[in-house]
Amino acid sequence: MGNGAVGGAVVARPCRGRDAACEFLFNTGRKAKYDDHEYEFRGGACDSLRKKHYDKSLRLLWKAEDKAPYLGFKDANGVEKRLSQLTSQSLSDEEKAICKKMSMPEFKELLNKEYTQREKEAIVSVLSAIGHGEAYAWLVSAELLAEVESTGARAALTMQVLEEAKHFVVLRELLRAFDVEIPRLSAWEYAMLEGVYKSDGLEKLFGMNVLVEGIALSLFGLMSTWPGLDILRVFHLDESRHTALPNNYLKEFPLTWWEKNSPVRRMQRFKMILPALAMIPHLEEDLAVLGIDAFDLGGSVIRKMTVLADRAGFLLPVSKDQFLWLLDKIFNTYCDLTRPEHDDQQFSEAETTVGKDELAVEHQVLYGTPSPVLN
Ligand SMILES: [Fe+2]
Ligand SMILES: [Fe+2]
Repeated sequence: MGNGAVGGAVVARPCRGRDAACEFLFNTGRKAKYDDHEYEFRGGACDSLRKKHYDKSLRLLWKAEDKAPYLGFKDANGVEKRLSQLTSQSLSDEEKAICKKMSMPEFKELLNKEYTQREKEAIVSVLSAIGHGEAYAWLVSAELLAEVESTGARAALTMQVLEEAKHFVVLRELLRAFDVEIPRLSAWEYAMLEGVYKSDGLEKLFGMNVLVEGIALSLFGLMSTWPGLDILRVFHLDESRHTALPNNYLKEFPLTWWEKNSPVRRMQRFKMILPALAMIPHLEEDLAVLGIDAFDLGGSVIRKMTVLADRAGFLLPVSKDQFLWLLDKIFNTYCDLTRPEHDDQQFSEAETTVGKDELAVEHQVLYGTPSPVLN
C-alpha cells in the first residue's frame, strides 16, 4: 500500500467510526444508504427489479421526435433517425402517405377535422387532469427514489423519474396543440395529488403508483385509439410498468403485518381515494360529450385500482369485494337522483380500455398472467 492509501485509510477510520457512533446513538450517521464495501445500495442487488423495470424501460424507451414529430422535440439519436429513414424507404407510396410524419399545422388540421370545438375542450379537460398529475408523478417518484431499498429498486425508480419527466413535457405540448384553454386542477384533483405527495414513506407507492397511475392507465387505455392520440399508447405502456412496481417491490421488501393492517393506514388510503371518487361526477359532462359514461370509466378505474392495491398488500378499511359493492351502491344512488329512468348497473364490472394490446398489457399487470385477449 502506498503512502497516500495508508493516509486515506487513517483518515477514513475515525470518520466512519464517528458516523457509526452517531447512527447508533442519534440515528444521524452516514447519510448515504450506500454500502461501498459490498458495492451495493442498502437492501442488496435485487436484480429481478432491475430487469423488470430498469432494463425493460431502456428496451422500450421511446422518443417524442419519432412518435409525435409534430410536437417539435429533438430527442432522437442518429441511429434512430437512420432506422426511421430506412423503414420509410422500404414502404410503398400508399404506405408512405399513411406513415408520413406530420408537421404541427397538419396535426392541428387533423384535430380540427376529427373533433368539434366542444370535443377538443372535453379531451383537453379530461387529459389535463393527467397532465397535471404527471407533474406530481415526477415529484413523487423523485422522493420515492430516496425511500426504496436496493440497487435494483433505485434503478427502477430512476427510470420512472425520467419517464414522468418525459410524460409531463410531451403531454403538455400535445394538449397545447389543441388550441383550447387548458384548465387548472379542479379542487378534487388538487386534493388527491397533494394528499399523495404529502403521504408518508412507502404509502406514496399506493397513492401514486396504484391510485393516480391506475387512473392514468385507464384514461390512456380509453383514448389511445382515438384520432391524433395514438402517442398515448406508449404512455399506457410506461404507466403499466409503473403500476406493476408496488407489487414487484413489496414482494422483495414486504410491508409488515402492522403496516398492512393498521386501521390508521387503512383509513389514510381510503382518504386518498375519496377525492378520486368525487372527480367522477366532476368529469361527467366532458366525458358525455365524448360518448363515455363517467361512471363506467369510474367503475373500471376503481376496480383496477383495488386489484392492484390488494395484490401489493395495501389494505383498505373494507375488503376489495365489499368496496366494489359499496361503490356500485353509491354510483347507482347518484345516478338515481340525477338521471331520469336510471336502471341499476354494475359499474365496477365495466371495461373502458379499448385497444387489444392495451387490454393485454393491463391483464398482465393486474393478474400477473398472460391475457386471454390475445389467445
Ligand atoms: Fe406518467
Ligand atoms: Fe407513471
